Amino acid sequence: MKRLLISVAALLLATTAFSADPVPADLRETALSTFKPLPSTIPAVANNPITPDKIALGKALFFDPRMSASGVFSCNSCHNLATGGDDNLETSIGHGWQKGPRNAPTALNAVFNIAQFWDGRAEDLKAQAKGPVQAGVEMANTPTQVVATLKSMPQYVEWFKAAFLGEEDPVTFDNFAKAIEAFEATLITPAPFDAYLNGDDAAMTIEQKQGLALFIDKGCSSCHSGINVGGEGYYPFGLIEKPGADVLPENDKGRFAVTNTADDSYVFRAAPLRNVALTAPYFHSGKVWNLKQAVAIMGTAQLGEELNDEEVTLIVAFLNTLTGKMPEVSYPVLPAETDSTPRPSG
Ligand code: HEM
Ligand code: HEM
Repeated sequence: MKRLLISVAALLLATTAFSADPVPADLRETALSTFKPLPSTIPAVANNPITPDKIALGKALFFDPRMSASGVFSCNSCHNLATGGDDNLETSIGHGWQKGPRNAPTALNAVFNIAQFWDGRAEDLKAQAKGPVQAGVEMANTPTQVVATLKSMPQYVEWFKAAFLGEEDPVTFDNFAKAIEAFEATLITPAPFDAYLNGDDAAMTIEQKQGLALFIDKGCSSCHSGINVGGEGYYPFGLIEKPGADVLPENDKGRFAVTNTADDSYVFRAAPLRNVALTAPYFHSGKVWNLKQAVAIMGTAQLGEELNDEEVTLIVAFLNTLTGKMPEVSYPVLPAETDSTPRPSG
């Protein structure tokens, strides 16, 4: 009899555990205190009113390989909008087939990052856009040459006039960057996670919700938060345990190069995780191709915890809900060169 009672009690316990809702009842509320859904309209950016003409010009510039010295590389070469806004290479290939030092982050939703680049060294997208054009390993061009190239094509001059109405000399390197920023502000990708945050319970599966709950409980969200589930703050990569030099190469000290403060050695911006399932390989070194492996590394490096396979699988299920609807970008037809267009070099 006693035996029977024990087994009934055990059965009851097991049933209760089994039938209990594995998803916390207040999950959405908790999530909303940490994350924010994408806005449904194009966000405003500082000091750069966004107009349809500016967006169209920015799109042309984003796709124009003549902005690089060689005439080979456009922004889209490394931030391919057909493949998640990045190049899916360990580190990017640029001018003269050189391999750059870091993995290319996606340009999608970048407008919501607190600052641009893995180390946050550009304050916004207009500051950022001036970097790759001049970087020796990327487009290897100069502002003067970019402006000369643009001015050599009457169609571009017209487009700049329309985008920067009333300006006496609208074809400038500053305006080049502003137009690109305006286009990039349109590259936003609403995802199932946004639908869930906005109240649609069916937008995520139970596993994905469990993964979200784990992402919050384990502490991932203490660094990966806000609209982009990251991209908002800086932390040491290897806060608890430094990954090996195969994942965290010793020569790239991250924000140390920006602030020159010893505390910023190996400090990087918590990576924005929207569309992360599309943007392998991972980390600034681009050394990790598998998302489950990247999550497991975060567990040991940032939380000091070995996540088990089930936990990693659930967290990855949640991360998949960050894959959004890609913006529909029609391929622009670009102005033709003229006799005065600088010829490709290098
Ligand atoms: C970083 C846009 C050209 C490779 C970025 C970021 C943006 C961007 C928005 C920062 C994203 C973030 O921090 O999350 C552009 C634009 C370009 C351009 C508008 C054209 C003007 C290129 C090219 C290459 C490239 C041609 C490859 C040759 C990279 C790399 C990073 C980066 C490696 C990370 C660099 C670091 O953190 O130090 N780009 N990009 N980009 N881009 Fe580009
Ligand atoms: C990068 C997920 C916890 C800070 C990443 C990446 C993923 C990820 C997938 C790579 C993204 C990419 O390369 O595009 C997670 C998960 C976590 C977690 C699932 C919890 C298990 C944390 C915590 C912190 C943090 C707690 C801060 C203490 C960072 C930083 C990077 C990063 C700084 C960039 C590393 C680099 O420079 O390559 N995270 N993360 N993460 N995460 Fe986490």
